[in-house]
Amino acid sequence: MNELIESKLGPCPVVPLVVPSDPETAIRVARALLAGGLEVIEVVLRTDAAIECLAAVAESLPEAMIGAGTVLSREHARKAADAGARFIVSPGLHEAVVDESLARGLPVFPGVATATEAQAAWNLGLRTMKFFPASLAGGPAMLKALSSVFRDVKFMPTGGISAGNLADYLALPSVLACGGSWLTPGSAIAQGNYQEVTNLAAEAVVIAKKIRD
Ligand code: 3PG
Repeated sequence: MNELIESKLGPCPVVPLVVPSDPETAIRVARALLAGGLEVIEVVLRTDAAIECLAAVAESLPEAMIGAGTVLSREHARKAADAGARFIVSPGLHEAVVDESLARGLPVFPGVATATEAQAAWNLGLRTMKFFPASLAGGPAMLKALSSVFRDVKFMPTGGISAGNLADYLALPSVLACGGSWLTPGSAIAQGNYQEVTNLAAEAVVIAKKIRD
């Protein structure tokens, strides 16, 4: 993991997910998140316009750290890196994604949900992993168990995280950051209510500071 991402996540260990519909909306959502105090933002490759949106957000907001999520293949990783992604997140562990990300000098977070998967990632030399889908894979208790054996690994739990359970995950020292889409509700964005996104981001910052300070 590079020092830049660590230094940004240290003070605010929350990574919001942006599901991009079009570049203008994606930029407005990212701006709203930044206004709420979240600087590390994951744009997920789940729409046809995702790469275009990722490039637009990365170019418009150089002060933020924009990464790509739902990176499923080497080609996705290559396109995301070309579009300016500064980190790569996958739902699972795929060696070609890891290989391409590292070749481009990007921190990579492959998804793991079991000890076997975490061990496979560890043996690829990785020390940062996404724990996904966090709530269904056992939540903080499972993460605590994994952390007791993978002692040098930092996890980013994602999947089922909300303002209600954020503190439970952040209480674990092995958690680098929590990721989630609760910060970017589709209904608010569809209504142009970007203030709601800023409010949710600010709420997460308060929760994180309280538990980590
Ligand atoms: C992911 O891509 O990491 C998950 O779909 C996010 O899960 P969430 O929508 O429950 O936050």
